[in-house]
Amino acid sequence: MKRIIIEKSPPLKGSVRVSGAKNSALPILAATLLSSGTCRLEDVPDLNDVKIISEVLEILGAKVEKIGKEEVEINASDIRAYEAPYELMNKMRASFLVMGPLLARLGRAKIAMPGGCAIGSRPIDLHLKGFKALGAEIIMEEGFVEAKADKLVGNEIYLDFPSVGATQNILMVASLAEGETILQNAAMEPEITDLANYINKMGGDIRGAGTSTIRIKGVNSLNGVNHQIIPDRIEAGTYMVGAAITKGDIMIENVLSNHIKPVIAKLNEIGAEVLEYENSIRVIGDRELKGVDIKTLPYPGFPTDMQSQFMTLLSVANGKSTVEETVFENRFMHVDELIKMGANIVTNDRKAIINGVNGLKGAKVKATDLRAGASLILAGLIADGVTEISDIYHIDRGYSNIEEKILNLGGKIYRRN
Ligand code: EPZ
Repeated sequence: MKRIIIEKSPPLKGSVRVSGAKNSALPILAATLLSSGTCRLEDVPDLNDVKIISEVLEILGAKVEKIGKEEVEINASDIRAYEAPYELMNKMRASFLVMGPLLARLGRAKIAMPGGCAIGSRPIDLHLKGFKALGAEIIMEEGFVEAKADKLVGNEIYLDFPSVGATQNILMVASLAEGETILQNAAMEPEITDLANYINKMGGDIRGAGTSTIRIKGVNSLNGVNHQIIPDRIEAGTYMVGAAITKGDIMIENVLSNHIKPVIAKLNEIGAEVLEYENSIRVIGDRELKGVDIKTLPYPGFPTDMQSQFMTLLSVANGKSTVEETVFENRFMHVDELIKMGANIVTNDRKAIINGVNGLKGAKVKATDLRAGASLILAGLIADGVTEISDIYHIDRGYSNIEEKILNLGGKIYRRN
């Protein structure tokens, strides 16, 4: 069984270049189905999740060619199938993002119900609400969900929760519908804006992305274009916490600081020194760390994808901290693993109370989701002794070359089969 081994490491020092954002690359790869032209995408992170959605696109009939380590060319002129394979859907629920583009392009899409995952049931009701509002008939049977529409017509849609995936699926399907769609209470994450910018480059007409009200005017067709994926704000935040927790000094290259303001604010509150430059951020962790309170919220609030990494940091800060997880119903699985390493954390439903301890000790732990895996790597870097992480496939889904990047910063981290 593959494992990652981490030994207590010196303060992480040096620079690390952040890759393109996984959570922008996945919807934009799905959006290539909207066009019959050729799309060339740069800064596509080299991740398992990207491999899976590329396989889905190929099975649907698209030609997908990896040009370089982080560059992909897609031609979706010959989309034959409207059904995504169960076995790939089961591997990665974000494959559900092909439903909107398929419905828009072919008037039909049949996708295996995306499973829940460790962090929550991950329903798709808001995605389906959007498809229905635009005129699609929804059929749910035998574990599949099918959407059919002879014609898609723009409409007003209110999202009961600012779901990132539902916003993305609705943006994509509405971009080829007839007339105008107004999406209220839309997600405002930078990855939404990146997708809207990409569709507009293709010839779409989307206004207001990045705010809670997005207007999409349908067009007849969209062209293949080139696009550079925005930097991964969560990967950047993870290395920023790495500098703070190891009392190191890291220059994080290829990061847009306005995408990560809540993380910068909380690191400053905790006591790390954060210096912002045009496309990079330097974090120096040479001061005492103190406990703070964190509440995860949809963007522009504190990102849920940074919650577990901060939980590790707060477990060795001075004093008491609280963490409230409001986005997912079950995103505290890393707590039991951190407790095995000596952390003092008590949880009650979506709230955790952390009392800082002087240090952690290495242990055998397991990754329960990709961000939880990252939080255990951070813990292993400062824990006495050796930490062994299993189920590391979670980590490979969201962090490209994580060992190499941490080794280059002076961390002691190795992969073992
Ligand atoms: C995206 O997931 C990200 N994944 C997640 O990142 C991220 O944590 C999440 O957005 C929130 O920022 C990708 O972009 C591939 P949601 P998504 O729909 O779109 C409820 C990571 O670590 N909901 O905004 O699935 C849902 O139950 C991953 O990189 C409904 O109720 O998130 C959840 O409680 C983890 N009905 C909340 O909304 C729906 O139809 C947020 O989900 C859809 C969602």
